[in-house]
Amino acid sequence: MTAPAGLDSVRDALRWGESRLRRAGIRNAFMESAWLLAARTSAGNAGDLILRRSEKISAPARRDYRADVSRRGLRVPLAYILGSQEFMGLEFRADPRALIPRPETEVLARAAIEFVASRAGRARMIDIGTGTGVLAVVLAARFPGVLAAATDVSGRAIALARANAARFGLAGRIRFSRGELFARARGRFDLIVSNPPYVRSGDIAGLQKEVRREPRAALDGGPDGLGVIRPLVQGSVRRLRPGGGLLLEVGDGQARGVARLFRKAGLAGIRISRDDSGIDRVVAGSAPW
Ligand SMILES: C[S@@+](CC[C@H](N)C(=O)[O-])C[C@H]1O[C@@H](n2cnc3c(N)ncnc32)[C@H](O)[C@@H]1O
Repeated sequence: MTAPAGLDSVRDALRWGESRLRRAGIRNAFMESAWLLAARTSAGNAGDLILRRSEKISAPARRDYRADVSRRGLRVPLAYILGSQEFMGLEFRADPRALIPRPETEVLARAAIEFVASRAGRARMIDIGTGTGVLAVVLAARFPGVLAAATDVSGRAIALARANAARFGLAGRIRFSRGELFARARGRFDLIVSNPPYVRSGDIAGLQKEVRREPRAALDGGPDGLGVIRPLVQGSVRRLRPGGGLLLEVGDGQARGVARLFRKAGLAGIRISRDDSGIDRVVAGSAPW
């Protein structure tokens, strides 16, 4: 992908980026080109940049921007190019080692915050399949009384989650380990949170190109999408303290079935919460006292 020789003002660069991204099938092409350009200039944010359309762009910034637009045109997710993603008001490092945190996972984060708040801010918790570490980090950042563990089968995700915890000064408050579900967990917990992989294996090929560039282990929930959720629910029962809570994010159409798994496993007080699109997104239940 080559850029026209006159690509030296903000206005020209935005026009060029927008047309390249539009041709690549990206809907929000203008704003995405503005975000990419802002990240490569001193503008700081896209709003400032748009107000400075006549400004010249340095040669290195132009070169980097061209490369970024080119990667985005190949449908590399924007967050991977920018290297960060906002979640619950915090800016997390994001890269291909882990799933990009999603807005719908904020429903799970808020439910977990509510649970810990109802226990005066004190809880021993574990985040299973921590990815970028968002859930463990948000809870540890919000509550000094939270003692957090976080696990993932992916060593690469754990490395990224550790970097995110360090970024917020929480490295000493979250114990990270690589392993399957509870394999590396010690003792029992007041709270288990997880956003497990829940896409049916057969549906993965039909996902957006950007999503298919995220780690397969973060998406693939097996033939019926419940391949990780089933053992997670069963394993949680032995890992919860009396009255402890299990909070799980689930896929569209899975909530009722997962609620049945909770009941079968002996969990009580089962509740389902919806995301902003009206989809049943979080299933919550607790161990008997
Ligand atoms: C959907 S991502 C969630 C990442 C992060 N918690 C979030 O909400 O953005 C699921 C994560 O679970 C991990 N994972 C998949 N199977 C697992 C298993 N059996 N045990 C532990 N972690 C697993 C994946 O590597 C991935 O990082």
